[in-house]
Amino acid sequence: MALRPFIVGNWKMNGTRAMLAEARAIDRSAQRLMKVEVALAPPYTLIHAVHKEAEQIGVGAQDCSAESDGAFTGDVSAAMIADAGAKFVILGHSERRQGHGESDALVRAKADAALEAGLKLIVCCGETEATRDASGAEAFVVRQLEGSLPEPFEGVGERLSVAYEPIWAIGTGRTPTVDDIAAMHRAIRALLVERYGEEEGGAVRILYGGSVKPDNARELLGADEVGGALVGGASLTAESFLGIVMAAA
Ligand code: G3P
Repeated sequence: MALRPFIVGNWKMNGTRAMLAEARAIDRSAQRLMKVEVALAPPYTLIHAVHKEAEQIGVGAQDCSAESDGAFTGDVSAAMIADAGAKFVILGHSERRQGHGESDALVRAKADAALEAGLKLIVCCGETEATRDASGAEAFVVRQLEGSLPEPFEGVGERLSVAYEPIWAIGTGRTPTVDDIAAMHRAIRALLVERYGEEEGGAVRILYGGSVKPDNARELLGADEVGGALVGGASLTAESFLGIVMAAA
């Protein structure tokens, strides 16, 4: 991995203030691992508290609205999460696409809103098992990203990450082979270079997500074009998350 590895914990809908002890422990250990960029995306309710704990790690949100303000009950804008201390936002996670019917166009609109608010982006993509079985995974993922990624903008390489998360690998304990991950990441890289140019597109980190654990992290992170990991279940305790961070160091 030529780029500085980026390891992000997505807490999903887990965590009350009792979890702040885990965030604190992750932050304190991450200070010793400067070779790795570490971040957490807790639920909205904990963003500000984790931000106040964090001296070293980054803090982000798991989603944001495409709207800037107004009568949108229950929604949270990009400016609001930035105000709470978030530096980035995860967009287009399959649990949003599948569970909340989010289209590529909506993900792109959210990305535009997040950029406007000064946030960095982690844009997710990934195929179902049926698509993988039909050998259409790469074409599917590239199409999904074509519709979800924003138009070229200032600082792409620094502000954008892409997370490849095959849906069938999320929370299942199953992972693609290292060769399959590398092939997908190369296809994503080609798209990024085509859209944003050699330099900026080449600097975007492409994360892998789906059943990353301390015991498989080194192998998965070693695949060609893998620039880090987006971690769900194993990010919920400092012990397992730091095991993954250390594998990236
Ligand atoms: O965003 C992270 C993710 O969906 C992977 O979840 O639990 O398989 O690590 P998990």
